[in-house]
Amino acid sequence: MEELRQRIMREGRVPHEDILMVDAFLNHQVDMELMRAVGSAFAEHFRESGATRVATIESSGIAPAGMTALAMGLPLVIFKKLSGSLEDGTVYQTPVVSFTKGGRYLLTVSRRFLPAGERVLFIDDFLARGEAARGVMRLLQEASCALAGIGIVIEKSFQPGRALLEQSGCEVFSLARIASMKPGSIIFVDE
Ligand code: G4P
Repeated sequence: MEELRQRIMREGRVPHEDILMVDAFLNHQVDMELMRAVGSAFAEHFRESGATRVATIESSGIAPAGMTALAMGLPLVIFKKLSGSLEDGTVYQTPVVSFTKGGRYLLTVSRRFLPAGERVLFIDDFLARGEAARGVMRLLQEASCALAGIGIVIEKSFQPGRALLEQSGCEVFSLARIASMKPGSIIFVDE
């Protein structure tokens, strides 16, 4: 998506290798016109996916996933990150380790919002090692739901997330794919 690439080139910062700061338009201040275009691009790509719900993980995935849900006319389900387990039978939970930010959380979703038989399109802001997406896949399997696809705003293609997800048979569609980066230089995958 050319508009997104231009914003990354213009406003993205690489403080040190592996981390791209896009807090001017995606993670902290959010450009909702850009998010509208992001949502339209995902809706167009996944039009024939048979998705019945859009899902994301709090918090930075909410803006792009929300605009995708709006464009597709589908409900949005936000998976939560909890520190403790709920053992009252009302939720699905699985542990996820974040290598980029450090730490571990319990990815959590209410059973009410993930009834069996749904087809879920997962949208997120970044793909690094794919730990979060694989957590979502575990919960979908537990809930007897299907994955309709994975849409990523910014994929760090030099990290193993895409390969790991594709090995599990998932389709990954990313709007911007970064081949390599270092302070002062961002190189995209040549599509
Ligand atoms: P993975 O799920 O693909 O394995 O990713 P990883 O655990 O490494 O990253 C976890 C968190 O770090 C996610 O945010 C993700 O959006 C964020 N992240 C990963 N790479 C980058 C990056 O290069 N730049 C920025 N700005 N963020 C990155 P989160 O913990 O879910 O928090 P939130 O921002 O959604 O609240």
